[in-house]
Parts: sequence; structure tokens; C-alpha cells
Amino acid sequence: MLGLGTWEIGGRMGRDTSEDAEGITAIRGAIELGYTHIDTAEMYGAGHSEELVGLAINDFDRDSLFITTKVLPEHLRYKDVIKAAEGSLKRLHTDYIDLYLIHVPNPKIPIKETMQAMDLLLSQQKIRFIGVSNFSVKQLKEAQDCTENKIVNNQIEYNLLTRHSGMYNVNIESEIVPFCQENDIMITAWKPLVKGKLFGEKNKLLEEISEKYKKTISQIAINWLISKKNIITIPKSTNVDHLKENMGALGWKLDEEDMKRLDEEFR
Ligand SMILES: NC(=O)c1ccc[n+]([C@@H]2O[C@H](COP(=O)([O-])OP(=O)(O)OC[C@H]3O[C@@H](n4cnc5c(N)ncnc54)[C@H](OP(=O)(O)O)[C@@H]3O)[C@@H](O)[C@H]2O)c1
Repeated sequence: MLGLGTWEIGGRMGRDTSEDAEGITAIRGAIELGYTHIDTAEMYGAGHSEELVGLAINDFDRDSLFITTKVLPEHLRYKDVIKAAEGSLKRLHTDYIDLYLIHVPNPKIPIKETMQAMDLLLSQQKIRFIGVSNFSVKQLKEAQDCTENKIVNNQIEYNLLTRHSGMYNVNIESEIVPFCQENDIMITAWKPLVKGKLFGEKNKLLEEISEKYKKTISQIAINWLISKKNIITIPKSTNVDHLKENMGALGWKLDEEDMKRLDEEFR
């Protein structure tokens, strides 16, 4: 339900090794705190994020963890998907990926080709579940039509402030979220804390609700997501206090009235 995001751990679009120790310590620290789900991608740090995740998880029981990674949109040809997955497995030092996502749709490559490769990886038990990311309802339906296997997850930009349109999608809350909820597809909400922008909002309702529940703004923002049907989320942090704080978003629930007030306030 609450995973660890790793964008910028190990670099952005390029490999950055200058903060490796901090990254590994953060991932290990998160697992010690009880995080079991880690989200990464071959894109992050040009593969270095996966390498750091691989090093960090080495000391833990692999089967107790849930590792998600993603294939780049330029690697969606049949052979490229297989090669990309092999690369991720190697960097992650693992025999299997729990959830393998198509990072971003690529209209230049027939989705059938990509899904056939995903099916092969699944049959070889190199991946446990197939998912997508940043897919519209139309793209989700097209992908699902190309495979007998269930697409279990759509990872999309969704948070208190991003409700209608984000970097890749429009009609997020009006179409994509309800479609996934009705079709038993889990939604992983990316950028749940709006990269920290939420903390500068100084919103009266957010402050009132934070005071009422004795929870921080980040805990309210995360709880608002995970209180919704079929929604999980993956805040990124390398700060142990933040990791602990974000864990405090679990184990309680905003009541329906406050959910509605938050829904309306930022819509
Ligand atoms: N599928 C996609 O296309 C896609 C796109 C973007 C992101 N993602 C995934 O989603 C994850 C989350 O998104 P994101 O990293 O862009 O943004 P985010 O999780 O909304 O925000 C991360 C930022 O918030 C800070 N932060 C975390 N917890 C905090 C707290 N309790 N109090 C104050 N600041 C806090 C972090 O700093 P500190 O490290 O200092 O705590 C970091 O600067 C990514 O890491 C990645 O795994 C996927």
C-alpha cells in the first residue's frame, strides 16, 4: 500500500554515483522501518537506481519484498522488452521482478508486440505481474485486448493537487481512476506529495484537518490517496524522519466527510 519511490536515488536521467551511500542507507532504512514495496525503473539514473536497490535489498529476504520496475518507452519492441527485463534483473541482483510496468505508452510501437514480450517474461517467471504506467483508458483497453494475462496495475500521476491533467494524462479523476476501480486494476499514485509543493500550500482546510487528526500534511495527503478504492502510493524519501512520518499515514482513515471536503477543496 505504501511503497518507496526511488526517482533521483542514483541520478535523474543520467547515472550519478555521488550519493550512493545515502541512497543505499535510505532504502535499507525504509525496509527496516517496514516498507516492503520499492518502486524503481531502468530510466532512473540510467539504471543506477536499480543497482542501488539491488545492493540495498541484498541483506533482506527477497520473498518478503515487492519490487516494481519499468521498461522505457523506447524499449517496447519484442526483443527490446526481453533485453530490458534481463538488464533490470541483473542490476537488481534478483531472479524475478514482482511487477513490471510499461513506463510510458509509445504509439510508434504496436502494443501487441510489447504485450507478447510481457507474456513471455511472465511464463518464464521472470516477472510475477504485468502492469502499465501513464496509460489512458483507451490505451489500457488496447493493451488488455492483446493479452490473456491480467494487467493488474496502472501507475499514474495522482495527488491532492493533480486531479484532472498531469504530465502524461488528462481526465485522471473523471475517467482513469474510475475505470481502474471498476475493472479491478490497482492504481499506484506517483508524486503523492507533489514533490514537496504541498507543504508550501498553506491551505486552511489542510491545516484544519491536520490539526483534527493530529497528523502531518504529508500523512493527510497519503491517507487521502490510500483511503480510496484500489489506490496505493510510493512517496520518495531519503530522509529517515520523512520515511517514518510517511509510514504514519497507515493504520487510520480520514472519515468520509473529510475525504469529500478535501476532494472539493482542491478540485
Ligand atoms: N511512472 C512514472 O512516470 C513516474 C513519474 C514520477 C515519479 N514516479 C515514481 O513515484 C515516486 C514518487 O514521486 P516523486 O519522487 O516525483 O515525488 P514525491 O514522492 O511526491 O515527493 C518527493 C519529495 O518529497 C520529499 N518528501 C518526502 N516525504 C516528505 C515528508 N514527509 N516531508 C517533507 N518532504 C518529504 C522528498 O524529499 P526527502 O528525500 O528529503 O524526504 C522529495 O523531495 C518516484 O520516486 C518514482 O518512484 C513515477
